[in-house]
Amino acid sequence: MNKFYITTPIYYVNASPHIGHAYTSIICDCLARYKRAAGDQVYYLTGTDEHGEKVASAAAGAGQEIQAFVDNVKGNFDDLWQKLNITYDFFIRTTQSDHKEVVKKVITALGEKGDIYKTKYQGFYCMPCESFWTPTQVKEACGVCSLCKREVGPIEEENYFFRLSKYSQWLKKYLEDNPSFIQPKIRYNEVMGFLDNNVLADLCISRPKSRVSWGIEFPLDSDYVVYVWFDALLNYISAVGYDVDRDKFNQWWPPDIQLIGKDILRHHAIFWPIMLKALGVSLPKVIFAHGWWKVDEEKMSKSKGNIVNPYTLIEDVGVDALRYFLLREIAPGADGNFSHQAVINRLNSDLANDLGNLVYRTLNMAEKYFEGKVSSKDGVIPFEFKNAFDVLGKGYAGCMEKLDFGGALDFVFDCIKVMNKYIEDTKPWGLWKEKKIDELGEFLYALLEGIRIVAGYLYSFMPQTCHSVFRQLGVDKEVVNFSEWKWSRKKVYSVKKEKPLFPRIEIE
Ligand code: MSP
Repeated sequence: MNKFYITTPIYYVNASPHIGHAYTSIICDCLARYKRAAGDQVYYLTGTDEHGEKVASAAAGAGQEIQAFVDNVKGNFDDLWQKLNITYDFFIRTTQSDHKEVVKKVITALGEKGDIYKTKYQGFYCMPCESFWTPTQVKEACGVCSLCKREVGPIEEENYFFRLSKYSQWLKKYLEDNPSFIQPKIRYNEVMGFLDNNVLADLCISRPKSRVSWGIEFPLDSDYVVYVWFDALLNYISAVGYDVDRDKFNQWWPPDIQLIGKDILRHHAIFWPIMLKALGVSLPKVIFAHGWWKVDEEKMSKSKGNIVNPYTLIEDVGVDALRYFLLREIAPGADGNFSHQAVINRLNSDLANDLGNLVYRTLNMAEKYFEGKVSSKDGVIPFEFKNAFDVLGKGYAGCMEKLDFGGALDFVFDCIKVMNKYIEDTKPWGLWKEKKIDELGEFLYALLEGIRIVAGYLYSFMPQTCHSVFRQLGVDKEVVNFSEWKWSRKKVYSVKKEKPLFPRIEIE
């Protein structure tokens, strides 16, 4: 059995989750479910990034004690992941003691190795990104933070630094030799371009307690706490038992894919591999940076005040329409413009008209003509279906492996369209009138088999909807395994229609 270790970034608990956060977790959930269905052993890791100035100032702003504030916001993430049917295997919090111990051990080890030193720093600082910038870097970025483009403030501070520069040649060579390490290609090129044009500055990995006290105490000097990013990145190893549980670590490490947003590419494509290299730990197989959801061409974020509340959207369109929209509307590497109208258009066309209609009318006919009991003599796939279902069977996995969700869904919806056309072309009401009962039975059996298979393929995208389809079809056990998504696996149907899967939404 293959293992599949997949991670989301750990989310800041300075505010409640929005659609942007949900997007990363939904992508990972879709992949995790697909891999489980393919028979892999999956470890899906997510969690919350709970230290740092940003979180501390949000707690102060809310007038709350920090740990209480953090616990409360973390609860909002739990709640949303549950609503969205996110099937993570482990949730890590950076305030948990075993994670803190790993961070301390790592810093102690890197200190002993000579990769950490103390010096005075004079430059600029971006609070939201918790990042230091040299005067040259700020000049190049036209006076702002080169990550978030916000204003930076001057800062002079003694701190501990990690020797990133020592590993810059190694990293370049590693990336040259492993061009699929950073995906998609555009992000790989971005990192390569950055390394070609910049000398890597050493990374400041401490913050004086006099300025930031909410963090893991720096093991080499108790006047400091650990820089939040250095702490956060290590969650990916602490969550699988690094330096504590050798068997668990060996079972899961390295991650097969780490999903991130493109805003945190540099942290994951530069700091992270160098940290691992310095520790002598092997690198993740793939870092995949997805694009941003924007509203009116601006990145959705709390500070811009343009966030889309996932709860309202779930109320309006349902969980699966939201999951489907986010996975279907844009390729994961691209940016997308979010609008309610676009979600509703998708729901009305793909989900209500095509999928929902197919399921409803097929079950309706099965009940009307056969009291829900349908079987076939030979169970052969109709020739009208053959091509679309063959292509689905052959092409689906390849698309999923490349995170081409749109491509995988195109194959599925081609089958749905073929089945809808089959109904229109066959005119079953005519068969009924002409008393061609055997023919009508074969026709309905083919549709039910087709729907069962399609629901199997859609399961990773819309689990709740597919549970409902399986229930209506009378599929007794939850068949969510690739091996079951084949023709004529179910011989006899006893179906029970429920209300339409996706009622159309009319907007005034
Ligand atoms: N805490 C860090 C990550 C540390 S990982 C070791 C962080 N957290 S975050 O909460 O600000 O963002 C986490 C992720 O949310 C981003 O990388 C991105 O995946 C996702 N998104 C946040 N806003 C987004 C959009 N508007 N659109 C798409 N995804 C975005 O960064």
